[in-house]
Amino acid sequence: MRVVSGMRPTGPLHVGHYFGVLRTWAALQREHECFFFAADWHVLTDRQEEPGRVGGWIREMVADWIACGVDPERAVIFVQSAVPEHLELFWILGSLAPVGMLERVPTYKEEAARLEGRETPAYALLGYPLLQAADVALYKGEVVPVGEDQVAHLELARELVRRLRRAHGVELPEPQALLTDAPRLVGTDGRAKMSKKLDNCIYLSDDAATVERRVRGMYTDPRRVRADVPGTVEGNPVFVYHDLFNPDRAEVEDLKARYREGRVGDVEVKAKLARAVNAFLEPLRRRRAEVLADGEGLERILERGIERAREAARETLAEVRKALGGNSIAFGGGLR
Ligand code: TRP
Repeated sequence: MRVVSGMRPTGPLHVGHYFGVLRTWAALQREHECFFFAADWHVLTDRQEEPGRVGGWIREMVADWIACGVDPERAVIFVQSAVPEHLELFWILGSLAPVGMLERVPTYKEEAARLEGRETPAYALLGYPLLQAADVALYKGEVVPVGEDQVAHLELARELVRRLRRAHGVELPEPQALLTDAPRLVGTDGRAKMSKKLDNCIYLSDDAATVERRVRGMYTDPRRVRADVPGTVEGNPVFVYHDLFNPDRAEVEDLKARYREGRVGDVEVKAKLARAVNAFLEPLRRRRAEVLADGEGLERILERGIERAREAARETLAEVRKALGGNSIAFGGGLR
């Protein structure tokens, strides 16, 4: 199977990214041909004010990927904007997508609602899912491991692939979203999702002291005002994390039992959690730091990935151009 996925480079990644998608990426690369890329054009739709920072974010993000087990020897790791075919296929798909269909996409609708008619969103935001469809179709992606917020975009991508077939007879696979079993990790504040804006994340790059501080401040069962009050374990962020991070099952079961009976303090539960999270993160931190310390090595990884991606992309685009009638001088046909 062909696996394709992208991530927007907007800063360091957190453990929610790991459980949400990165461990799936790392697992898939063992059995399948994988293309993973930094979606830098997609950042431009809402970060126009800081494009100068995107390069640094790409490096950090790719270091995070590698720290999580994504292997440049197995997967093709590259940067979207370095492969011009993405924008070319984007334009072709754009000719098959009615504006109304794009306006119905939830992310676009939300942004339009947020602006309350004062102004309309950027044209590129309307095209955001078109570019995403091009990202996948270009590599003949069949499986797309993403977070659940991306399901609507993948649905649109399938519709566009079908339209491309009907309009021009181009045969590309209809991509399917692949969600993990822990698609959404609760924030340290108990909110449904980790988000940089809410400052409720544990970052892959956090040092041990930072992890301890964040865990100490975690939201638990609010009805449990004292250690001798019985508490709820289900859905309690501290135990959600224990289940994910703490490999010592006996310790976790013992803590849960005592928590339910009001025989353990939050301090002990959290101290053991911080220890487990740090044990989990320690090798990742080390790997991440190694990757970032070797700037040239990282550059080489990306250059090689870009080269391999371009090869695949060129091939697909040549097929599409040909189908469009580009054996004359139109659509890049005769003159290339
Ligand atoms: N929109 C995705 C996100 O915000 C990023 C993305 C861009 C992507 N192109 C993609 C994901 C192609 C999967 C496939 O997470």
